[in-house]
Amino acid sequence: MRVLVVGGGGREHALVWKIAQSPLVDKIYCAPGNAGIARQAECVEIPAEDIAALRRFALQEAVDLTVVGPEAPLCAGIMDAFAARGLKLFGPSRKAARIEGSKVFAKTLMARHGVPTAAFRTFDSTDRAKAYVDIVGAPLVVKADGLAAGKAVIVCRTVEEAHKAVNRIMIEGEFGEAGGQVVVEECLEGEEASVLALTDGQTIAVVPSCQDHKPAYDGDEGPNTGGMGAYSPAPVVTAELLCLIERDIIVQTVHAMNREDRAYNGVLYAGIMISDDTPRVLEFNCRFGDPEMQPLVLRLKSDIVPLLLAVTEGRLDEAEIEWDNGAAICVVMASGGYPRKYEKDKPISGLEEVEQMEDVVVFHSGTRREGGRILTDGGRVLGVTARAPTIAEAQKRAYQAVEKIHFEDAHYRTDIGWRAVGR
Ligand code: AMP
Ligand code: GLY
Repeated sequence: MRVLVVGGGGREHALVWKIAQSPLVDKIYCAPGNAGIARQAECVEIPAEDIAALRRFALQEAVDLTVVGPEAPLCAGIMDAFAARGLKLFGPSRKAARIEGSKVFAKTLMARHGVPTAAFRTFDSTDRAKAYVDIVGAPLVVKADGLAAGKAVIVCRTVEEAHKAVNRIMIEGEFGEAGGQVVVEECLEGEEASVLALTDGQTIAVVPSCQDHKPAYDGDEGPNTGGMGAYSPAPVVTAELLCLIERDIIVQTVHAMNREDRAYNGVLYAGIMISDDTPRVLEFNCRFGDPEMQPLVLRLKSDIVPLLLAVTEGRLDEAEIEWDNGAAICVVMASGGYPRKYEKDKPISGLEEVEQMEDVVVFHSGTRREGGRILTDGGRVLGVTARAPTIAEAQKRAYQAVEKIHFEDAHYRTDIGWRAVGR
């Protein structure tokens, strides 16, 4: 088989790394890829958003399966474009990807079908949004409707902050077109977890739970990022809670999407807040998580390719999925300054030494090769990922590896996994 992976971050490296282990596959392409991905795949210089060029490439190279990492091409309809030319692609259609592409759609879908989520209202007028803020009072969360790389979610501690957030989104246009409408919602307290499920629209296979770490600094301080580290399983998601989440959130949502003629095929990612043993949805994503995918692939014992194919071909009921009983953790090493301004092109050392370590894999996010050197090329640079029988051991092993890797101004959290280890 010939497989094309779309994207060039840590999640896509994890996918490529796992796909490369499949005996079914003899060629992997990745568009655009990065320096780490280039070791397992042929990187092609096509941006992940250029659907027309990606389709031309897939046709020309007779690609058997395309797997899409990021949300932007899915929300823009890459699945529909490929299907129209008879190309197989793992990921939801444009209509189904709307569950991530529009927060107004996702929230109203949940309201229509009784999926537990924070109380909310949606607005296309600043005056009405602010009037609602005044009535309900703070704390509140204000979200721009559309895609904004996870940045358009503003947690507001005061009414003034919420007014400012509405202005930033709707008047100042800080998040572009994403800010045409806003969601104003109840601020939930509790512990977050990510629950992902593979589905072909009929059969659902829930994946082991994970927990991401969005704030930039130790102790969950500082600005939100794309994710500074993740681990799996997340002990906050007990077996009972996972059953509840599957029944009330995942099954209910896949069913709701069918009812609304938006049959969902691919991986559905539910970001969940757990307060007093009650799970509620914070957001849905239409793709694998980054960095959640990095620990997940280390725990996946089955060949991933038959799974991706089974989902795409609507026969997930035939698939067998085996997970490692242990734990895995990913520590993200980022450029100094991330998620704000940062510099690129810093040489990275120590990667060869870490390669000798057992049960450790370094997934690349923002890297590029220049001559014999690997240079930093983005905010998140590496996802140092380790597997062990317990989270505490995996954490120790991951940080042993992190300490061997160096680049100027490297920044990483030193407490990834703290909630799980503390339990
Ligand atoms: P989202 O992209 O919607 O998941 O939001 C990003 C982050 O904002 C989440 O991971 C939460 O930490 C936070 N967040 C979003 N919605 C809420 C909410 N209703 N209450 C508290 N925190 C929230
Ligand atoms: N790690 C959060 C996300 O992938 O959206």
